[in-house]
Amino acid sequence: MSAPAFRIGQGWDTHRLVAGRPLILGGVPVPSDLGLDGHSDADILLHAITDALLGALALGDIGMHFPDTDPQWKGASSDRFLQHAHALVREQGYRIGNLDTTIILQRPKLKDFREPIRNRIASTLGIAPQQVSVKFKTAEQVGPVGQRLSAEAQATVLLLQG
Ligand code: C5P
Ligand code: MG
Repeated sequence: MSAPAFRIGQGWDTHRLVAGRPLILGGVPVPSDLGLDGHSDADILLHAITDALLGALALGDIGMHFPDTDPQWKGASSDRFLQHAHALVREQGYRIGNLDTTIILQRPKLKDFREPIRNRIASTLGIAPQQVSVKFKTAEQVGPVGQRLSAEAQATVLLLQG
C-alpha cells in the first residue's frame, strides 16, 4: 500500500490546577494564582499537540514514548516531547499542514497570550504562525474545569505527505 497523502490526528490532555505551580501553556508562562500540576512542566497544550502528532502516525501516545519513569524525560520541558514527535513526523515522510487547538480554562483570560503562544509553537515546530490556531473557552463555571480544579487542551493536526 502506498503512503496516504494526508493523515489526521487528535490529542487531548488535562492536568490539575493547584497553588504554587506555574501555568505554562504552549511553552508560554501565563501569570495566574493557580498553575498546572504534573511530573513535567504539565503543559497541557503541548501534550495535546504531541498526542495529535503521534496519533496521526498511529504511533501510540505520549506516555508510551516518554514514560515518566524514564530519567531521560523526568522534569523535561514539553518542547522536547513535541520536537521528538515532530521528528517522527518528518522521518515518516510527512509535514504539518495545520494545527487547530482549544484550551479550556476558566480563569485567567488568555486572549492576550494568543499570539505569543502561536508564535512559540510555530517556532518550536519550524512552521508559520498561520498554520497554528489557538482557541480558548471557559467551562461556564461547570464541572472540574469550571470550578478551577483542572484545565484541558485539545488539538487536531493535518499532516501532508512530503
Ligand atoms: O467560554 P466562553 O465562550 O465564555 O469564552 C468567551 C471568549 O473568551 C472566548 O472566545 C475566548 O476568546 C475568551 N477566553 C479567554 N480566556 C479563557 C477563556 C475564554 O480569553 N480562559
Ligand atoms: Mg500532560
